[in-house]
Amino acid sequence: MAKLKELLGEIEQIKQDSYKELENLDSLDDCEQVRIKYLGRKGKIPDLFNELGKLPDEDKAKAGKRINQLKSTLDERINEKKNQLQQLEQEKQLEKESLDVTLPGRRRRTGKLHILTQVLDELIDIFKRMGFSQALGPEIETDYYNFEALNIPELHPARDEWDSLYIDKGTLLRTHTSPVQIRVMENNDPPVKIICPGKCFRRDTPDATHYPVFFQVELLWVDEDLSFANLKYVTKTFIEKFFGPKFKMRFRADYFPFTEPSAEVDIMRPDGHEWLEILGSGMVDPNVLEAVNYDPEVYQGFALGLGVDRMAMLKYGIDDIRLFYRNDLRFLRQF
Ligand code: PHE
Repeated sequence: MAKLKELLGEIEQIKQDSYKELENLDSLDDCEQVRIKYLGRKGKIPDLFNELGKLPDEDKAKAGKRINQLKSTLDERINEKKNQLQQLEQEKQLEKESLDVTLPGRRRRTGKLHILTQVLDELIDIFKRMGFSQALGPEIETDYYNFEALNIPELHPARDEWDSLYIDKGTLLRTHTSPVQIRVMENNDPPVKIICPGKCFRRDTPDATHYPVFFQVELLWVDEDLSFANLKYVTKTFIEKFFGPKFKMRFRADYFPFTEPSAEVDIMRPDGHEWLEILGSGMVDPNVLEAVNYDPEVYQGFALGLGVDRMAMLKYGIDDIRLFYRNDLRFLRQF
């Protein structure tokens, strides 16, 4: 009898110990340790079955039932605890990995075209729609194309206005895109209807409206029956397309050796008080046509050269041309 009581006491003790341990643990590993400790092959519950063998036969059934009960409830409890812990762990994991869709996004800065490139593209687009095709010429020019063929002989005072940076005596950085007029006419019979965008260089001292490097778009249209009225129409049309109807425009008589008559065009912003010169233009001088073997009795034409930087300044209200070339992103990102 004493033996039975002892065993039952032991069972009770194991029950209480194992439940308590189970309650206090908080990891799956510890849970597995408890299972091994009590239910494993060399665990406490198999031990109890060994003890059971030593009992008198009449006591075996009672004690055996208790051990079996303990075995199955403990097994159940362990599984339950495991499930709980697993669920907790999953929740923790989810919390760690979850996306907070209310957080502001991280912006990726994409590159963009320089404002001058944007304006150039827009101008080229406008002229292409008007039927002009694009021609290009070299930035390093000969004296002949930059001056001579444009009716500016060696000692002509107009050369002072276009003082340049010379590579050697006969070659220089072009001071305007007008030499491309000559190159195109030399290689093509009339009619000619082209624009030529490109970089120009002058030995200018930088100030708010001058810079030693700048962009021009040259335009040349030579055909039979073209007059100053056509020049005015083309000019007015592209200016309205580029600036919209609110900007003011004026033609002002001027002089260029390679056009006769000549005119400059000034623009004023709707909110502005000052005119800014943006282009020179005129009817192609007969001397220039003769220099490329076009018959001035049959063909006439007009040309213009516009300052892209100044057009950009007017359109976007930029008051200093030097900003275009400083490459300060705080400025460039605005456009
Ligand atoms: N080439 C002149 C300049 O740079 C502009 C111009 C071009 C004038 C075509 C008349 C005709 O100032």
